[in-house]
Amino acid sequence: MSDEPKIKIEGEKFKAKDRVRADRTDELYKDIPEGSTLMKIDNLHVVYRTDEKETIAVENFTLDVKKGELISIVGPSGCGKTTILRCIAGLLQPTSGSVYLGDKLCTSPGSDRGMVFQDFALFSWRSVIQNVEFGMEVAGVPKEERHDRALRYIKAVGLEKFADSRIHELSGGMKQRVGIARALVMHPAVVLMDEPFGALDAQTRNILQDMLVKIVEHSARTILFVTHSVDEALYLSDRVVVLSKRPSSIYKIIDVPGSRPRDRTSPEFTELRKTILGYLEEQNVME
Ligand SMILES: Nc1ncnc2c1ncn2[C@@H]1O[C@H](COP(=O)(O)OP(=O)(O)OP(=O)(O)O)[C@@H](O)[C@H]1O
Ligand SMILES: [Mg+2]
Repeated sequence: MSDEPKIKIEGEKFKAKDRVRADRTDELYKDIPEGSTLMKIDNLHVVYRTDEKETIAVENFTLDVKKGELISIVGPSGCGKTTILRCIAGLLQPTSGSVYLGDKLCTSPGSDRGMVFQDFALFSWRSVIQNVEFGMEVAGVPKEERHDRALRYIKAVGLEKFADSRIHELSGGMKQRVGIARALVMHPAVVLMDEPFGALDAQTRNILQDMLVKIVEHSARTILFVTHSVDEALYLSDRVVVLSKRPSSIYKIIDVPGSRPRDRTSPEFTELRKTILGYLEEQNVME
């Protein structure tokens, strides 16, 4: 008999045969073919209410995310991008609308949706490897397995020499690589990234974009990626979703042709960049 822990993901009802480990939720959706719909975001509507005012942040946001797809979301500052990701992650209950992963309605956080935060959100008192191991620890993955797996991902993001370093000893780019390893090591069905490279200098940003491209190409991930940079969106994504100004709904969706890695200087790239910047200007925004 296998000694692998069978973990029931909290708050979810799976039949015994469907039980998967919380650290490998992508296996739940293995029967969905690449390119078919994995996640359905249907008519999201979010209103923030405080004593003084009501802010409609998101209106009629509907999107089908295909398995293996990397989608970027760009849009005006304050238009509701983080709000949309928080609803998908289950950190925020939408006023109306729904998010389905396969046929599961997502209403609370789960390890099937891994999040990479703009401000890293790492545990400062833990080392690099202890941060990457954290989710697996909670999921009850045996010590040796989680150590090996964490090391593999730390290597994939180029931090093998820093596995035992403390978080405060790392640069911003290195911290974000820990954040990415921590999310990917859990094999989530969908990875959510909220401007993960937003705080980094241009050169580090390009290096991390290439790292992400390599990881995506090797392990077919489904990723929703929020960014302010049209260049970054075009470099990374299969599709770019341009949001309207607040309340955010989808303004345009652009298919990005060609396989990765892409040539940022090619005429097609330049043309698409111009088109998307034009859309953003129509929403009164510059990059
Ligand atoms: N907890 C909250 N309470 C009240 N209003 C909020 C709250 N969080 C966000 N908002 C408002 O909702 C709108 C959308 O915010 P959100 O953070 O989703 O935008 P964003 O597109 O991620 O912005 P940025 O590009 O600056 O990161 C903004 O007007 C913001 O002020
Ligand atoms: Mg935001």
